[in-house]
Amino acid sequence: MIVESNVPLQPYNSFGIVARAHHLARITGEADVQALRDDAEWRDASRFVLGGGSNIVLTGDVKQLVLKVEIKGLRLVEETPRAWIVEAGAGENWHEVVRWTVENGFPGLENLALIPGTVGGAPVQNIGAYGVELQDRFESLDAIDINTGRTFTLDAARCAFGYRDSVFKHVPAGPNDFGLAGRALITRVRFRLPRPWKPVLGYVDLEKKMAEAANIEPTAMQIFDWIVAIRRAKLPDWRVLGNAGSFFKNPTVTPEQCADIIARDPKIVHYPMDDGSIKLAAGWLIDACGWKGKSVGNAGVYERQALVLVNRGGNADPVTGGEVMTLAKAIQTSVYERFGIRLEPEPVVV
Ligand code: EPU
Repeated sequence: MIVESNVPLQPYNSFGIVARAHHLARITGEADVQALRDDAEWRDASRFVLGGGSNIVLTGDVKQLVLKVEIKGLRLVEETPRAWIVEAGAGENWHEVVRWTVENGFPGLENLALIPGTVGGAPVQNIGAYGVELQDRFESLDAIDINTGRTFTLDAARCAFGYRDSVFKHVPAGPNDFGLAGRALITRVRFRLPRPWKPVLGYVDLEKKMAEAANIEPTAMQIFDWIVAIRRAKLPDWRVLGNAGSFFKNPTVTPEQCADIIARDPKIVHYPMDDGSIKLAAGWLIDACGWKGKSVGNAGVYERQALVLVNRGGNADPVTGGEVMTLAKAIQTSVYERFGIRLEPEPVVV
């Protein structure tokens, strides 16, 4: 098992932040994790699992042994009258997997097109966009405990999916708590794509595309193309302008809190949820505080979507994790002072 030293992490995080891994091992299968456990030099080293790096803020060099997940593989494992089950290696590029499923006649992931990152990160974050969340298309996943080497399979219930949340983001609170943060390396994910396929079209942006095309019955490929176009118009390409997608979660409030805010700010964008709570558009809150287009050092608020923080220095003079966090804290403070709402960051701060 080769462990590399002093590895630049700038190419491996979508913000383009400069940092190094003191030590990094490329994991191409379970055997690599086992080999590290059998190696006296690395057996007791604390470990950090790195996927596509599209949802992290690096605030310094990583002293832990970085396990960079590069597990490949993509196949249809089962076809029943009610679903296609597709399995992908955790190191596969998410968008390419979505494209492959749609092109090969296994539709269902098209609303999740163009989300940066890898397959292994998708369940951690329970990625979601345009009316579909990963949990809606999830069958099961395989993982390995990075401390014990034990392999295990989890169904959706054990993954405890929530809004941009799962068991993989939770540190165990006690002996009976199943939090897996810092413990699990996801190796393979299986998707359940229901048959017959039904398009998910409820979102305003998609409705607009439908109206423009006068297309009553779009195919999955058509929706895939629309989602790609919608995202390209709204969100910066991290290869051109470094970023980690939405920087904050959309907060939920009680109907009373929402009524209170509406009384002061009638234009606030809000959506009722099934459980009776109200979700507020964090992008709108940040925008209303005047942050759109502003910068702190090389950390900026994207001009077209205030929920996205960007690296204004590019590769030549890249933003630091400290600058990103300083900007994030300033935004949190002003949103709290104006609306009494605490915004919660979405990315993992390392
Ligand atoms: N808005 C503003 N000003 C802004 C940004 C947004 O007024 O600067 C308003 C918009 O006009 C709109 C509302 O806020 O009325 C919501 O904006 P948008 O439709 O762009 O969606 P979002 O809530 O900002 C969420 C997800 C995205 C996902 C989209 C589409 C979160 C944190 N973000 O964004 O996910 O692509 O919906 O489903 O839930 C991500 O997680 O990284 C991500 C990009």
